[in-house]
Amino acid sequence: MAADFAANYRVNLRNRALVACGSARRLRLPINNERAASAPLRRDPVRTQVGIVGAGPAGLLLSHLLHLEGIESVVLENRSRAAVEATLRAGVLEQGTVDLLKATGVGERMQREGAVHHGIELRFAGRGHRIDLSGLTGGKAITVYAQHEVLKDLIAARLAAGGALLFEARDASLCDLDQKTPSIRFDHDGGSRELACDFVAGCDGFHGVCRPSMPESARIEFTRTYPFGWFGILTQAPPSSPELIYTHHPRGFALVSTRSPDIQRLYFQCDPHDDVDNWPAERIWEEFRVRLATLDGWAPCEGPVLQKNIVAMRSFVCEPMQCGRLFLAGDAAHIVPPTGAKGLNLAVADVWLLSRALTAFYRDGRSDLLEHYSETALTRVWRAEHFSWWMTSMLHLFPGNDPFQVRLQLAELGYVTSSLPKATTLAENYVGLPFA
Ligand code: FAD
Ligand code: DHB
Repeated sequence: MAADFAANYRVNLRNRALVACGSARRLRLPINNERAASAPLRRDPVRTQVGIVGAGPAGLLLSHLLHLEGIESVVLENRSRAAVEATLRAGVLEQGTVDLLKATGVGERMQREGAVHHGIELRFAGRGHRIDLSGLTGGKAITVYAQHEVLKDLIAARLAAGGALLFEARDASLCDLDQKTPSIRFDHDGGSRELACDFVAGCDGFHGVCRPSMPESARIEFTRTYPFGWFGILTQAPPSSPELIYTHHPRGFALVSTRSPDIQRLYFQCDPHDDVDNWPAERIWEEFRVRLATLDGWAPCEGPVLQKNIVAMRSFVCEPMQCGRLFLAGDAAHIVPPTGAKGLNLAVADVWLLSRALTAFYRDGRSDLLEHYSETALTRVWRAEHFSWWMTSMLHLFPGNDPFQVRLQLAELGYVTSSLPKATTLAENYVGLPFA
């Protein structure tokens, strides 16, 4: 693939970028706002190097990393910028994610406003047990900083650098993935558009269009659906604890997390088909009080419930993560239950790998990293799948409330909190294994 493809590029020595010499027009940069971003696309097909579908953590970070290597991309997102920046999801960033955001110039606010945590608590049978993350991993830690704040930082950085982000780009469909110039058709600003590219990055999450664009015969999907969900709240209250608390309780799992000195994030295991309207604030707090109670009378700091939502839980992997010129990254290729706090971090690891592979291709004419992208990414994916499944299985109540299974969970929790090797296993997975 490398030889014929690299021949289609000329090196722009001044900015290290390799610029596509196609018949279609190159996208004009800089473009620095949503309206302006749509302008060149109004007239005829435009060309870029990497067409990215989805402006979540995977798509935005990929675009940022490619830009730093002088590689052009256009990000197509079907929601508005305001909706993207307001969606509440993850909170825990692994050490490697934090290091990458800092090293690439988008970590300043995270360093100022995020909270570095050196340990977590596992709570069961009414007692708390600290896992010393930093002590067990040679000083690594996690940072609690909301996913939508990461997205705001990435969007600001891309726009400041003249990046092409098209919000409200609807009905994307992928064409010619098996050809040298695949394209993405979509509707934007009242008209049909087409973006020709060298590669398509499918960063459009679990419900996106990219994975289903791979022929069914070209992929295998592995799925496990859990018989419970998470009920999440944001509350205006001081922190209940200096570190996150993962709790096993006969009524089900509960998690205490945080967002800022005034806003806290908490979750409890629930029926995935339940309705948030069945849960007025007093009932929510009663559930947290019961599940989080300790033998020495610990209670959470309560406050007004600002937001509440229910998320379903599943494990999912699509193999391979590539089909022709389409490369999947993040939730488009895999889902983990949130118990291990791995989803966003896996998306980051995927796009870091993909950006290295694309850089090797454009800079050195090497296609081997692209060819091995799926295999390399899946090694980390399956490790994270196992860790997330293990944490979920150890901490949640399963239907039937089988006393045998509950005893096994308590035995596992007892072992994790008393054995140095077992605690180290949890700690090194939780803070994140090194990037490939
Ligand atoms: P997404 O964030 O889903 O982004 C995909 C984007 O593509 C979206 O903006 C979407 O609008 C857009 N899109 C979809 N379809 C199209 C289309 N057809 N055309 C154009 N655009 C499209 N992970 C962690 O690492 N740590 C945590 O602590 C953590 N906690 C979590 C807690 C909860 C309650 C939940 C639900 C998830 C949590 N996760 C966590 C997981 C994490 O949020 C996801 O793994 C992460 O968002 C994946 O990023 P992504 O960019 O791959 O996909
Ligand atoms: C948060 C989310 C998680 O999935 C998790 O395991 C820990 C914390 C959070 O949103 O803060």
